[in-house]
Order: sequence, then C-alpha cells, then structure tokens
Amino acid sequence: MTGFDLNLYRRLVETSPEGVVLVDAQHSARPVVYVNPGFEALTGYSSAELMGRNLRLLQGDDREQDGRHRLREALDRGETCRVLLRNYRKDGTVFWNEMTVLPLSDGDGRVTHFAGHHRDAGERLRIDPKLTRDSLSGAHQPTAVAIRDDRLTGLFTLSYLEELLKRDWAVAQREKRSIALFAIDIDALDLYNTTFGRGAGDSMIRRVAHVVSGCLRRSSDVTARIDGGSLIAFAPGLTHEQALRVGQLMAERVRDMRIHHPRSAVLRYVSVSVGVCAAIPEPADNPERLLQVSQTQLQLAKKSGRNQAA
Ligand SMILES: Cc1cc2nc3c(=O)[nH]c(=O)nc-3n(C[C@H](O)[C@H](O)[C@H](O)COP(=O)(O)O)c2cc1C
Repeated sequence: MTGFDLNLYRRLVETSPEGVVLVDAQHSARPVVYVNPGFEALTGYSSAELMGRNLRLLQGDDREQDGRHRLREALDRGETCRVLLRNYRKDGTVFWNEMTVLPLSDGDGRVTHFAGHHRDAGERLRIDPKLTRDSLSGAHQPTAVAIRDDRLTGLFTLSYLEELLKRDWAVAQREKRSIALFAIDIDALDLYNTTFGRGAGDSMIRRVAHVVSGCLRRSSDVTARIDGGSLIAFAPGLTHEQALRVGQLMAERVRDMRIHHPRSAVLRYVSVSVGVCAAIPEPADNPERLLQVSQTQLQLAKKSGRNQAA
C-alpha cells in the first residue's frame, strides 16, 4: 500500500478515541510500555505517570471485583479477555472501564505483550460521573448489569453481541482462527407460557439462559438473548467439531434440568434446539453470513425433532 508507513500506524493509534495501551507480558509486574492520548483522556493520568506501572492502580482500593479475577486468570492463560471494571480517574471520579485485553505473540508464539482497548461504558451504564470512591458504597453502588443489558436473563443484548462479534471476527480473520456461532431456541415456549403463565415462563427462560451460557465458560465467549426464548452465542477458537459438542452439551444440560413441560410434543421436560456453525473467516466473508448459517442450522435441528444440536 503506497504511503502506508509506521508513522501512519502511529497516527492511527494516537488519534483513536478509544484508549489503547501496551503492557510488557514478559515482566512479572506487567508494566505499561505505551498509552495513547485516548487513554490519557479516559483516566486523567499522563503517559509519563503511567509508564512502568501496573494498571491495577486505576482500581484504587476497590479490588473486590469479579472482573479483576477473570482478567487475571485469562492473562495467566495468555487468552483474550473482555471485562468491565470500576476504575478511578486521577481526580477520584469513578468510571466503568470496558476493556478488551489481547495477547500479542512473536514469531515463535511467545506472548510478549498484552494490548488493551478501553472505553468508558458510562453512557450505557447510566452511571453518575460525579460519583467518587467515597460515595460508592452499599446499596448505592452501581452494578455491571446494564451492559449485559437484557433485564430478564442478565446476558448481553443482541446489539452488544454483534458489536463484539465484529471485533473478534477481525481478529480471527487476521490470525486465521476459527470462530463458532450458536443459535439456541427454547422448544415450545409458547405452550409453556399458556400452561403456566408468563411469570413462570420468564423464570424458566432465566434458568435455561443460565445453563446454556454456563456451557461457554471462557472469558472470550459471549452469550446474548435476542428475544423470548431465543439466544445467540459465539466462541472464538472453537472448531466445528468442538462447537457441535458444546451445542450437544447445551441440549443435554437443559434436558437434565427436568423442568416439567407436560404439553410439549418434544418430551415432558423443557428442551432446546441448537444451530451450530464455525468458520475461519475468509477475507470476503462477514459475520452476518455466519449468523445466517447458525439460524439455518437451528431450523435443521428443529426439523430433525428439536431437543438437539445440528
Ligand atoms: C493490557 C492490559 C490493560 C489493563 N488495563 C487495566 C485498566 O485499564 N484498569 C484496570 O483496573 N486494570 C487493568 N489491567 C489489569 C491489571 O493490570 C491486573 O492484571 C488485574 O488487576 C489483575 O491482576 P491483580 O489481581 O494482580 O491486580 C490491564 C491489564 C493488561 C494486561
């Protein structure tokens, strides 16, 4: 590409409205080696103040956060991780730091650095920016619920999943890695609702969503609810064979919950149908196609008698 040199790359990162950081993965203290102006604006710290330090400093003494544990485990395994952490700017104001941390490897596959992409999720979380460390206590403490915006299940919303999928798609494309998609439907949900009422139906959806998302446990996996009893999930790095096994596990685990559903034509318990597909993204390919294929596979699972993965 003519005129596309290192300076342009640098300007690309430097003008990004997102915070971008680079951390030394070889050093046990995981010190910062680069932050862009976007990260300075996000945190209120200058690059000079952050250089050589571990970014946990942004947590202050607010350390009891589930995301921190998940992030540490993912870093130890050298995996991509997406978390939402409560962080504090230099002036003490709180913000929700929505970050994706990715391992960067050298030619021999050794992880040399971690890259972080950061943004303030405050808007979506409707957090009051005037809140400070001192005012964040007890019942007034905001939770990470709104970003996993589906009120009923606590999962992500479809639009958020699509946004995450676009990014992971680009990474999978670059690294020539597979990405798997799951389209999941609760069988005979309408009949369940007419038999037991909407309230019971909603609590059943919640339980099923919990079990289904529990089958995908890596921090890079994402599950969302589309609507009603329809869920969607993606998992970077899974081959088709592995994904199909996960799909079968989802169907099995839901069946094993033995939630009574006397009018279901499938079996006397609540069940799910799962459409599975996986692909290494081709240059001309796009995530929408994979979403379509997973829906086609879901129809196949339904036509084959439901309560199964296809
Ligand atoms: C690239 C990268 C960026 C990070 N950015 C942040 C951040 O912005 N805020 C934060 O609280 N922690 C951040 N961390 C996480 C902390 O550095 C640390 O790994 C985490 O707190 C878990 O480790 P600990 O339990 O030893 O503190 C980042 C880590 C990496 C590798």
